[in-house]
Amino acid sequence: MKCILMNKNTEVLVAEYDSATSGFTHVYEVKNIDFAPYIIKSFYSKGIDNTTFRTNLSVWFKARGIPSWRDKLDILLHRLNISAPGELLDKAFGLSLSDQYWLKPYDSNVSYDSINFFDNDFEDVEFTEASLSNSSKIITNEASLKTPNNTTDGMLKKAWIIENGTRYLLKAGYKNETLQPFNEVLASEICKRLGFNHVEYKIDIYKDMVVSKCPCFITKDTEFITCNQIKSSMKRHNNINDYEDYIRVLEENGIANAREKMENMYILDFLIMNEDRHLNNFGIIRDVNTLKWLDVAPIFDNGQSLNIKYYDEDEVHISGSGRLFYEVQSFGEIIKLVKNIKRIDITKLEGLTEWFSELLHEYQDLTGYSDTRIARLCFIIDSQISKLKKLINV
Ligand SMILES: Nc1ncnc2c1ncn2[C@@H]1O[C@H](COP(=O)(O)OP(=O)(O)O)[C@@H](O)[C@H]1O
Ligand SMILES: [Mg+2]
Repeated sequence: MKCILMNKNTEVLVAEYDSATSGFTHVYEVKNIDFAPYIIKSFYSKGIDNTTFRTNLSVWFKARGIPSWRDKLDILLHRLNISAPGELLDKAFGLSLSDQYWLKPYDSNVSYDSINFFDNDFEDVEFTEASLSNSSKIITNEASLKTPNNTTDGMLKKAWIIENGTRYLLKAGYKNETLQPFNEVLASEICKRLGFNHVEYKIDIYKDMVVSKCPCFITKDTEFITCNQIKSSMKRHNNINDYEDYIRVLEENGIANAREKMENMYILDFLIMNEDRHLNNFGIIRDVNTLKWLDVAPIFDNGQSLNIKYYDEDEVHISGSGRLFYEVQSFGEIIKLVKNIKRIDITKLEGLTEWFSELLHEYQDLTGYSDTRIARLCFIIDSQISKLKKLINV
């Protein structure tokens, strides 16, 4: 299919898209490279040959689809009646709720306004059921495959829904674990108390299953650009220098208090012992009309925390490592990154563990958590708060 890669209303390039391989077989013309996905622009600027450019474009587009490591992907594909996530990519023009890129068939006059998922409702019931529930029902309604769920990243089972006009992302736990949604809510509470810009997660129940629910943090005028993409245009030195370079790039592009905002994320990670802050779990927001960098993206995806992988009913484990930029590091090392830790008003966290304990107890019927497990989770938080307090008070 000959098509135009669009960024909202701007034509980026004209190319031939092959549905069978979910890739591009030819690029006819580059029209507006500045409006291309950040990573594509940065490859293009390096002056690569046509074939490599086309390959990079295909890799980028394929990566918009549901990843091969999505929890229970085989079951999801069966329920969607397809054999690979790539099959979904051109069902809804490749549109997403995290950016504004889409493929416009070359001879069509379809407009962004008439198809984008921010303004136009989508059928969310069947995909949500296929993704989150145990129902083995196979989707037969073709409209259920025309949704922003075709372009979600990440390991956890998830689904976009619409409630009273707002787009929310529902995320389940990994396999039989149910702690991720609670960790998301805990992270929101900490961020709220400490004044960190964050995505607000709440607990929701979907067919007796605990999930987290958060509103979309992107609008029709913005896109989320991951740190991973931004890093692709930077020279690589070593981890700390690259972290510093990243902050410098953000500042040069006009993002105010970039360092403090990055540090806030790492302070949160220290407090909840988040192990999953890889380079696709943070980034920036850019205006798609002006290409102006607006801000650091609000803190999101904090579920892989509180020693989730190592729970043991007999013993308390406070182990595990976090991510400091692209390296795995101990939390003790990560917190050293914060230049002025005394700016944190730790008294704002008083009563946090009691609040979390109450929340976990409230859902015990559904999660089956023992009182011991709840006490241990709270113990970990208390222990991290105490460590932070010590660092603040030296
Ligand atoms: N609230 C949101 N609004 C817009 N995009 C989001 C939102 N939450 C997540 N995303 C996008 O979806 C991707 C997957 O979500 P994430 O929470 O990281 O899931 P996972 O825990 O499976 O990694 C993110 O990397 C981001 O691109
Ligand atoms: Mg993620």
